[in-house]
Amino acid sequence: MTFDRSVKIAPSILSADFADFGREIQAIEAQGADWIHVDVMDGHFVPNLTFGPPAVKAFRKHVKTVMDVHLMISPVDAYIDAYADAGTDILTAHVEAGPHSHRTMQAIRGAGMKSGIALNPGTPAEAVEHLLDLTDLVCVMTVNPGFGGQKFIDMTAKVKKLREMIGDRPVHIEIDGGVDPTTAPLVVAAGADVLVAGSAVFRGGSVENPAPYGENIRAIKASVAG
Ligand code: DX5
Ligand code: ZN
Repeated sequence: MTFDRSVKIAPSILSADFADFGREIQAIEAQGADWIHVDVMDGHFVPNLTFGPPAVKAFRKHVKTVMDVHLMISPVDAYIDAYADAGTDILTAHVEAGPHSHRTMQAIRGAGMKSGIALNPGTPAEAVEHLLDLTDLVCVMTVNPGFGGQKFIDMTAKVKKLREMIGDRPVHIEIDGGVDPTTAPLVVAAGADVLVAGSAVFRGGSVENPAPYGENIRAIKASVAG
């Protein structure tokens, strides 16, 4: 993975058909996804449950781009090796998930993955200031995590502040929640380069009829072009 700040679309398979993940991943990549975003939830850190390491390892066989795994779990550290073994490229943990995010970022890199740190809407940018040399990605949540299809919460000021704090370090700013062609321009103008989108990408399409996936991805890209 080489670092670049061009805008990337990372469809969240939380909005895919849960009985058909392999073909959904193939379809969304064929339609132009840059990364595949995998939302892991534990029913404890967030009020919803999705899947764990064995499922993520099975997804990996179908991902040709970048597998971006977003852990909404607490605690994190005991599971880091399992996500490395599952073939994760970027492993993101929440700064709110425990008192030792610094150790968690070190451990993720130590296990051979890129590290990411996520912030809930109620958490200020300063909470990750001392992690920026240990992280490859900051994920700014623009919904309270747990569910797809929620309304975008404007975090533009936080994104701008993070962009300044990051300076010329090779750290991505990812936006997660409520991203669509109306909200994407706000966060890209503020300095984001990775846009997670679930409902806005998967709506209207299916494995049998994947063309709308491509139209939806292109609509988000067009909204931030130039
Ligand atoms: C929310 C997840 C998101 C979610 C985004 O907890 O982290 O990745 O799936 O879904 P949309 O794009 O529908 O808001
Ligand atoms: Zn996510």
